[in-house]
This record gives sequence, C-alpha cells and structure tokens, in this order.
Amino acid sequence: MKFSGSLGEYEVIQTEDGSFSLFSEAFNEGCHSSHGAATETRYVYIDGCEVADRKSKCIFEVGFATGLGFIETSKVLEDFIFYSTELDEKLVLWAQEKNKIFDTFEKVGNAYVGTKGSAKAVILIGDARETIKEHSFKLPFDAIYQDAFSPKRNPTLWTKEWFEDLKELSSDEVILSTYSASSRVKKALFAAGWIVEEREGFAFKRSATRGFLKGEHSDQLLKKLENPKILPYTDSEINS
Ligand SMILES: C[S@@+](CC[C@H](N)C(=O)[O-])C[C@H]1O[C@@H](n2cnc3c(N)ncnc32)[C@H](O)[C@@H]1O
Repeated sequence: MKFSGSLGEYEVIQTEDGSFSLFSEAFNEGCHSSHGAATETRYVYIDGCEVADRKSKCIFEVGFATGLGFIETSKVLEDFIFYSTELDEKLVLWAQEKNKIFDTFEKVGNAYVGTKGSAKAVILIGDARETIKEHSFKLPFDAIYQDAFSPKRNPTLWTKEWFEDLKELSSDEVILSTYSASSRVKKALFAAGWIVEEREGFAFKRSATRGFLKGEHSDQLLKKLENPKILPYTDSEINS
C-alpha cells in the first residue's frame, strides 16, 4: 500500500515482527529495520535511553514518521512529555489516522499536540534544525531518540552543530541513543562534547551508539575517536 505525504510517496511495509514501517521515496530509505520496526524501537530507544527504569519525564525524538517512538514509550511510561519533530506534516496526520495514537489531537501554531492519558506529545512541524531553536521547551531533555534517516540521506541531523544544539537543551542526566554505527557520527558527538558509548546493534547491525553528558569514555573508544583520520560530520562540510 502507498500513500502521498507532503514530501512524496510512502510505501507501507510489514516488518518481521508484524509491525509496520514506511519506505520514503523522497529520502529513498526505510524508517526502520526490516527485522522489526517495533522491536527495533524498543531496543534502540526505549531500552537504549532507559526511559522506564529512569522514569523519564521529557523525551525528544528526531523524526516522528509512524509514531512508533511515542506508541512504544507509552507502553512503559505514563506521565511524560514527548517532543518530536517532523518535516512532513501529512505524515503526522496519516500516522494519527492509521494508528489512533492520541486520544486528543489538535494543531497549535506550527505543532501538533496530542495526549494519551497523562502523556503529552508536541510534534514540531518543519526542519528540526530551525524548529528546536524557535520552540520553548518546558523541561530539559532526559532522553533523546536520534532517529533521523542515515547521514547520507539526512546529513543536517548528524553534525557536530546539531549535537551541540541538543546538548544545550538537555539535562545532565540525558541519554541519547541511535541505531547508527558510523564512526563519523560518533566523532561528531565527541566533538560536540558528548561522552560516547558503543553498544550492541539491533539484529545484524555491527553496533549502535549512545551519548551521555556525564561519565567517561572507554580507553579503547577514546583512542578511536582521537584518530584524526576520522572526520566528524559538520555543517560547513555538508553546506560546501
Ligand atoms: C527514520 S524516520 C523516523 C522514524 C520514526 N521515529 C518512527 O518511529 O516511525 C526519519 C523521519 O525524519 C523526518 N525528517 C527528515 N529530515 C527532517 C528534518 N530536517 N526535520 C524534521 N524531520 C525530518 C523524515 O520525514 C522521517 O519521517
């Protein structure tokens, strides 16, 4: 099945755990692992950010798409605010229509605000590089689901400057988690002042990455990150 968003067509795909994902023609990439969209979301973001154990209060997600990030989070947490970002407005409307994610759902300014029990979501519409600067967030982020398309397809959302902006909006307790195993992403996080950690990847991926604002690097990873041959993604590079 296909549908048209604001940016182009999407194909709805059933993944191996039975949950649905999307393939975006505009970005020429799928939103999740074909091995299981919901399982991947739980592993990379819910477990990766330890939101249930830490009773997260303020989560920030990069890319709303199907709404799975919120859906899976609301299964393990009740009272939280979930900020998300989405370039494609029609996609947000489609996700709510298809998945009945929120009990109340309305547009407020340039955002969609949804509630489910005592959880609230605010989905900022537009380029996240801009919208996070315009919005006044009620709380600092204690969890970040870094779920943009890959750096090749979505380069602006993986740069040192992007990770610096996220750091400014986060509490000291924050955990940033992403599916990406890229050394250049790790280096961008490192250059922006994050403590970087490698963890096991989902399904057949070689690794995944987390970022913290407290703690220390492992000696092995520090050695790797200090290698001048690994260049961080930066705004100046992608704009040149
Ligand atoms: C990998 S998908 C996110 C999947 C989502 N977390 C889910 O569980 O379904 C990436 C999303 O980021 C959105 N996106 C891409 N560039 C963006 C930007 N500059 N600002 C905001 N959203 C963006 C895309 O439209 C896409 O929906």
